[in-house]
Parts: sequence; C-alpha cells; structure tokens
Amino acid sequence: MKKKTIIVAGFILVMLMAFSSCEKDETGNNETKMSRHNDDGSHNNGQNCMDCHKSGGEGEGWFTVAGSVYDSLKTNPSPNGTIKLYTGPNATGTFVKTIEVDGRGNFYTTENMDFGNGLYPVITGSSGNVKNMTSSISTGQCNSCHGVTTDKIWVK
Ligand code: HEC
Ligand code: HEC
Repeated sequence: MKKKTIIVAGFILVMLMAFSSCEKDETGNNETKMSRHNDDGSHNNGQNCMDCHKSGGEGEGWFTVAGSVYDSLKTNPSPNGTIKLYTGPNATGTFVKTIEVDGRGNFYTTENMDFGNGLYPVITGSSGNVKNMTSSISTGQCNSCHGVTTDKIWVK
C-alpha cells in the first residue's frame, strides 16, 4: 500500500513537471530587457505592452515600466528620447530611474521597480523638449492610460 502511494505520488510529480515545462514553452520568459536608443526590436506602438509582457503572458520579458512616445502630430513615433522617474513632481525628490526610448519610439524595462508613494515621469525628447507628468504613478503600464483615458505621450 505504501509502495503504491509512493508510485502514484511520483507519477503525479512527473506529470506536474511535464505540464509546467510545457507551459513555459507557450509563454514568454522573464529575460532581462531594457530599451536603448536606436534599438529596433520593439513593436506594437501604443498598445499596453504589459497585456503580453507579464508573468504568464506571451511577450518575452516581463516589463515593469513600458510605453510609447509620439511626435507633436501624435501619429508618428518619436524615437531616442529619455524617460526619467523621480519621487517628486517636476524632477524633484529622489531620482529613481532612466529608461532610454528606443529607435521605434517605445521604451521598456524588466528591472525591479519600487513605486513607493508614487513616481513622477519626465520625458525629454531627442531634441531636448522636456515634459513632466504632474501627478504620480503607481504602475509602469504607461499605455494603459496614455492613448486610452488621456493623451498619448508626446514630445517635440
Ligand atoms: C499582443 C501581445 C504583445 C504586446 C501588446 C506587446 N508585445 Fe512585445 N512581444 C510579444 C511577443 C509574443 C514577443 C516575442 C516574439 C516576437 O518577437 O514577436 C514580443 C517581443 C518583444 C520584444 C523583443 C524581445 C526580444 O526577445 O528581444 C520587444 C523589445 C518587445 N516585444 C517590446 C514591446 C513593447 C515596448 C510593447 C508595447 C509598446 C510590446 N512589446 C507589446 C507580444 C506582445
Ligand atoms: C494612471 C494613468 C497614467 C499612467 C499609468 C501614466 N500616466 Fe502619464 N499622464 C496621465 C494623465 C492623466 C496626465 C495629464 C495630467 C498630469 O500631467 O498629471 C499625464 C501626463 C503625462 C505627461 C505630460 C504630458 C504633457 O503633454 O504635458 C507625461 C510626459 C507622462 N504623463 C508620461 C508618462 C509615462 C512615461 C508613464 C509611464 C512611466 C505614464 N505617464 C503613466 C495618466 C497616466
């Protein structure tokens, strides 16, 4: 009886392992990824990247902060700007993180992010134009609001 229990338990364990490794094939892994100026590996501008780039999602890399930037016409991507996150509004408080916008106007990182009491995004366009978000965020899913409930992120 005891032997049978062990065999059954072993069988279940093997099935579970087979199942979970199969799951891994269908979903994206959490590889470390960070956007850099001029990179051209991103896609899906304007969509909420974390719809897919999350634990259990199909995207490669689980992003903690990601989004898209447009030019002043809000139709074309604005490449190679820089996103900075601070603990205070208008680039005050503690500087937390820089994320480079890639060559396709998208930015993303899989780095751990502590949103604390809220972080304030600042974007600098490739030509030096600076824009501040005056309220704070507690999620890095920039495109869950921008282009949906508020204007797209854009810079000159
Ligand atoms: C509908 C699901 C989906 C959305 C939305 C999505 N992605 Fe992806 N992404 C994927 C999948 C699947 C892959 C892996 C296959 C591929 O490269 O197309 C991927 C791959 C990538 C890669 C390449 C990773 C590598 O292996 O080098 C980058 C970079 C990327 N996505 C960035 C973004 C950004 C930034 C956004 C938001 C603007 C975004 N993705 C939105 C599904 C998505
Ligand atoms: C919860 C919704 C939400 C999220 C998430 C969000 N934003 Fe915003 N953002 C807003 C709203 C609403 C405004 C306009 C009011 C303000 O500035 O606070 C705004 C304004 C901005 C502005 C200033 C726009 C202008 O034209 O002056 C920038 C830049 C910006 N956000 C960048 C970002 C970045 C980068 C992220 C992700 C790291 C982000 N936002 C995440 C809602 C959001």
